[in-house]
Amino acid sequence: MISQFLTVQLRESSSQVNVFLNSIIRASSKPKVLYEASRHLIDAGGKRARPFLTLKSCELVGGRIEDALPMATAIELLHTFTLIHDDIMDEDTKRRGKPSVHAKWGVPMAITAGDLLFAKVYESALNFVDSRRLQPKKILQALDLITKATITICEGQAYDMIFEKQELISEDEYFEMIGKKTASLLKTAAQVGAIVGSGTELQVKRVGDFSYYSGLAFQIVDDVLCLTADESELGKPVGSDIREGKKTLIILHALNNAQKDLRKQILSTLGNASVSPKEIMSVIEAIKNIGSIDYATAKAIQLGEKAKKHLSNFPDSTAKRALLEFNDYLVNRKH
Ligand code: IPE
Ligand code: IPE
Ligand code: MG
Ligand code: MG
Repeated sequence: MISQFLTVQLRESSSQVNVFLNSIIRASSKPKVLYEASRHLIDAGGKRARPFLTLKSCELVGGRIEDALPMATAIELLHTFTLIHDDIMDEDTKRRGKPSVHAKWGVPMAITAGDLLFAKVYESALNFVDSRRLQPKKILQALDLITKATITICEGQAYDMIFEKQELISEDEYFEMIGKKTASLLKTAAQVGAIVGSGTELQVKRVGDFSYYSGLAFQIVDDVLCLTADESELGKPVGSDIREGKKTLIILHALNNAQKDLRKQILSTLGNASVSPKEIMSVIEAIKNIGSIDYATAKAIQLGEKAKKHLSNFPDSTAKRALLEFNDYLVNRKH
C-alpha cells in the first residue's frame, strides 16, 4: 500500500513537472499531428517516477526544487521518447491505458514524435535552467550524464532484442541488459538532481547507486507484472513478453528449472507471434508453479533492500523518507 505521505509527495512532484512539460510541448504547435502524437503519452499519465527521483535527490542534498525542475522535465521527456520507440520495437499497442503512439499514428509518425521528444530533452535543459543560479559546469555535467544515459539505453534495448533470438542467457547478461535499458536512467535521474542541488561528489554517487539498484528491482517487478497483473490496471499488455520472446529473469529461471516437456513448451511459445492468449496463459501458470515468479520477486526485494543501504549515510529528512518509501513502492507495487 502506498502511504498518504508518498501519495502527496508524488502528486506534488508530478504537478510541478507537468507545468514544465505542458510549456515545452504545446498542443497548439504545428504540424498538429506531430504535436498531438508527441503529447499523447504525456497526457495519458504515468507515474513520473524518474522526475520524482531528480527532485527528491536535489532536495536530499539541500538543493532547491526550482533548480531541478528543468532537468527533471528533461528526464521525463527522455523516458517518454524511449517508451514511444520501445512500443514500436516490442510491437505493443497499449501504453498508459491508451493506444501506443504507433498504434494510433503509425510507425513513421511515432518515430518522428519520439525524435522530437529527444530534442526537447535538450531544449528543456538549456532553455529553462537558470544559468544565473547554476554554474555552467553543473549544467554541462548534467547534460553529459543525460547524453551518456541515452547511449546506454540504446545498448540495453539492443541487448533486449538480441536476447530474444538467443536461447541461453546468463543472469549476468540479463542484469547487464536491464541495468542499461532501465536502471541507468533512474540512476541518471537521481544524479542529475543531486548535481543541480550542489551535492558533493560522494552524495551524487550515493543517490546514483541507490537509484540504480532500485531501478534493477523496478525492472524485475515490471517483468513480473507483465505476466501477473490485471491489464486494465497495468495499462499495458499482459503476457506480451512471452509472445515477444523476452528473456526476463522469470524466463531464465523457468528455462533452468523446468522439466523437459515444460521447457519444450516454453521454448515453442517464446517469441511465437501466432500463439494464442490461452496458450500464453497456460505457460504463465506453469511458470508460476515452478516458482519462477517467486524467484524473481525475491530478487527484486533483495535489490530494493540493497538500494536503501546507499542512503544510510544521509541524515533523516522528508526527502530521504520520500526516496526510501518510493523504493518500497517500486518493489511492492501491483500495477
Ligand atoms: C516503463 O516505465 C518502462 C520501464 C522501464 C519498465 P514506467 O513503469 O516508469 O512507466 P510510466 O512512466 O509509469 O508509464
Ligand atoms: C523498458 O522496456 C525500457 C525502456 C522502455 C527503454 P520494457 O519493454 O521492458 O518496458 P515495458 O514493459 O514495455 O514498459
Ligand atoms: Mg516494452
Ligand atoms: Mg522493451
